[in-house]
Amino acid sequence: ADSCFAYAMMENKLLILTVATEKTDGFNRFMQSAAYFNYTVKVLGMGEAWKGGNVGHSIGGGQKVRLLKDAVKDLADQEDLVILSVDSYDLIFAGGPEEILKKFQQANHKVLFAAEGLIWPDKRLADKYPSVRSGKRFLNSGGMIGYAPYINRIVSKWNLDDNDDDQLFYTKIYLDPLQRESLNMTLDHKCQIFQNLNGAVDEVLLKFGTGRVRVRNTLYDSLPVVVHGNGNTKMYLNYLGNYVPNAWSYEQGCSHCDDDLVELSHGGAPCRRKDVLIGVFIEQPTPFLPEFFQRLLTLDYPKDKLKVFVHNNEVYHEKHIQRFWEENRNVFKSFKVVGPEENLSQGEARNMGMDICRQDATCDYYFSIDSDVMLTNRQTIKLLIEQNRKIIGPLVTRHSKLWSNFWGALSLDGYYARSEDYIDIVQRKRVGVWNIPYMAHVYLVKGSVLRNELKERNCFVLEKLDSDMALCRSAREMGVFMYITNRHDFGRLISTANYNISHYNNDLWQIYENPVDWKEKYIHQNYTEIFTANYMEEPCPDVFWFPVLTETACDEIVEEMEHYGSWSGGRHEDKRISGGYETVPTDDIHMKQIGFDKEWLHFIREFISPVTLKVFAGYYTKGYAVMNFVVKYTPERQAYLRPHHDSSTFTINIALNNKDVDFQGGGCRFHRYNCSIDSPRKGWSFMHPGRLTHLHEGLPTTNGTRYILVSFIDP
Ligand SMILES: *[C@@H]1O[C@H](CO)[C@@H](O)[C@H](O)[C@H]1NC(C)=O
Ligand SMILES: *[C@@H]1O[C@H](CO)[C@@H](O)[C@H](O)[C@H]1NC(C)=O
Ligand SMILES: *[C@@H]1O[C@H](CO)[C@@H](O)[C@H](O)[C@H]1NC(C)=O
Ligand SMILES: *[C@@H]1O[C@H](CO)[C@@H](O)[C@H](O)[C@H]1NC(C)=O
Ligand SMILES: *[C@@H]1O[C@H](CO)[C@@H](O)[C@H](O)[C@H]1NC(C)=O
Ligand SMILES: *[C@@H]1O[C@H](CO)[C@@H](O)[C@H](O)[C@H]1NC(C)=O
Ligand SMILES: *[C@@H]1O[C@H](CO)[C@@H](O)[C@H](O)[C@H]1NC(C)=O
Repeated sequence: ADSCFAYAMMENKLLILTVATEKTDGFNRFMQSAAYFNYTVKVLGMGEAWKGGNVGHSIGGGQKVRLLKDAVKDLADQEDLVILSVDSYDLIFAGGPEEILKKFQQANHKVLFAAEGLIWPDKRLADKYPSVRSGKRFLNSGGMIGYAPYINRIVSKWNLDDNDDDQLFYTKIYLDPLQRESLNMTLDHKCQIFQNLNGAVDEVLLKFGTGRVRVRNTLYDSLPVVVHGNGNTKMYLNYLGNYVPNAWSYEQGCSHCDDDLVELSHGGAPCRRKDVLIGVFIEQPTPFLPEFFQRLLTLDYPKDKLKVFVHNNEVYHEKHIQRFWEENRNVFKSFKVVGPEENLSQGEARNMGMDICRQDATCDYYFSIDSDVMLTNRQTIKLLIEQNRKIIGPLVTRHSKLWSNFWGALSLDGYYARSEDYIDIVQRKRVGVWNIPYMAHVYLVKGSVLRNELKERNCFVLEKLDSDMALCRSAREMGVFMYITNRHDFGRLISTANYNISHYNNDLWQIYENPVDWKEKYIHQNYTEIFTANYMEEPCPDVFWFPVLTETACDEIVEEMEHYGSWSGGRHEDKRISGGYETVPTDDIHMKQIGFDKEWLHFIREFISPVTLKVFAGYYTKGYAVMNFVVKYTPERQAYLRPHHDSSTFTINIALNNKDVDFQGGGCRFHRYNCSIDSPRKGWSFMHPGRLTHLHEGLPTTNGTRYILVSFIDP
């Protein structure tokens, strides 16, 4: 019976009035929360030009009172109608009509205003306010609830201009003791109904219930119903709005993620695909750039709908871009590169990319991506478009780090602050589409937004901000919400720190800094099958043969050595080793000579030790080696190596090129077993004991050049 009564009240007796001239993201969020609780909402002024001033930065808002006055006039005779007048751009409901009505009745007044701890706009009026024993003392006009005749009596007093201050108007009425009494007005001092966040951010916490989230005021132990991000607390409201009232909960996860999706396929047939401009920014030397471009190429999106704009700030990368362009010049609808010779600042370059889309009415989306973003999800562009937000980025994180491309909160001075949910979002323990104050590295912006809300050129060269921060600030100031989605695994951020570009193939050195990308580029596709599917061979007793390096790794190592060029010549005298004498010399270059020994030992520990453990059960290698070198066999210089033992506990010997393609002959013979392997496979390694049992020789290379990579492990 109780709920029947409440339902009737809600149907007939509570009307929400709000003024909104545009359907901003904030307005839509407000309406969504109102719809969730089945509020009856009447929107005033939609489509009208806003003349109420820039509220939040200065006084204003009179237009709201004027519109309210017109609307309430017709309702003035409905004595039991309760009107709730609220802002909408920066406000959400955390509870329903039934609760509001109950709390309003408990307040036992005809009109109740929201309260806050900060006085605005006229500080001189502070003395005139009634003192309160506890609670917020000052009036805030973002929320007002009262019986229709009383509200009418208040707003009918309005005879000022649209850009006069609404809050000052209500304040003056409230501060007049006679009017206060005759209108039976009071303030919601303890945030029973209205929570203004300005000056109160520290008092307010999320309170998770079953499938419902609200806010709790910890100072008054109240559960406010109307949450208002007044003043400069919009970002905090955005954070709360990621949960309240039901946007995300532990039980149900994200409940609005599938609202308003853009349909990308229809009954299996793709709808008209939108045109996307991809802006690529190479602002510093970046490892794995060829792989970055390959990933653009493999994006699952029609290439004839993609235009590409590249800003490259690095001379070093010109060769990579040139190669990519030569191989793929006709793949995209267009491909434009602005190189280092243009000497553009990062901000100018980003503006340029954005402007190309802004000025092209056929540009539906602008997808900005920095060269340090490895998009592993081929569906990324589709998934982002589908989500249908003005600005949305895919979450990308640094492998096994908490570093990502967004910030959950900003500090007062506009820099990084960690939100309570940051780690859960980064680790995808909370999955959804999150309204956040700052993001960078990769995001999708609707072309229409660039041409409207963000039409001011030079978004990026504002003041001294980082260029990405400038974008985020412009968006915030225009009331455009920025979202990050972690609904899918999209990819990762690579590290550009410590990228030394003074070698020939610099990515080889990235084994520490970017281990995942290193492994993907350099470790053989079937390496892991050694362990999962026993993918290895034993062509001679205790000679194990397994895949370990990719063709790319083999090629780059050979290139690196040839680039270095000082082959030893296969002489017995050898200054590089202790003692200075080599009994079985090869024509070689040591890893140490190219500064790669530390990285190579790391490779041995990461990728060879596990194989050792598998084939030589009970032997734990120290993974230590002083002799790591690439040998070059040619008929003209050194073609073979006479039988010998190695100074190692075990040896690995990796073929770096292909028999019958790059050379003829070659191979290895183990004497004790009268066993030869004469068809080495590129990227595969032998592993065999070094001393005593495995006397072996290098068979003659009869034509071409054969390269092998050898390490004497645990000498
Ligand atoms: C809103 O109304 C619908 C349909 O009448 C109902 O199913 C739903 O429970 C109501 N929502 C709330 C929060 O009361
Ligand atoms: C306000 O109105 C309520 C009834 O709605 C009444 O009980 C209360 O005394 C009034 N307060 C003042 C200050 O007039
Ligand atoms: C590039 O721009 C910077 C800053 O605008 C300027 O100091 C520098 O001289 C310019 N370099 C060239 C080569 O034009
Ligand atoms: C980069 O590599 C070169 C060549 O190995 C080396 O001389 C130089 O010290 C390295 N630079 C840094 C900063 O490590
Ligand atoms: C990995 O193994 C599969 C199946 O045996 C084979 O088809 C594929 O070519 C191998 N990959 C490489 C790089 O050799
Ligand atoms: C070694 O093997 C070859 C065939 O692979 C055979 O002809 C030869 O007799 C063998 N030599 C010895 C000493 O067993
Ligand atoms: C040696 O290799 C070259 C190319 O690498 C090839 O043209 C030539 O025919 C080869 N000679 C023999 C005898 O196989």
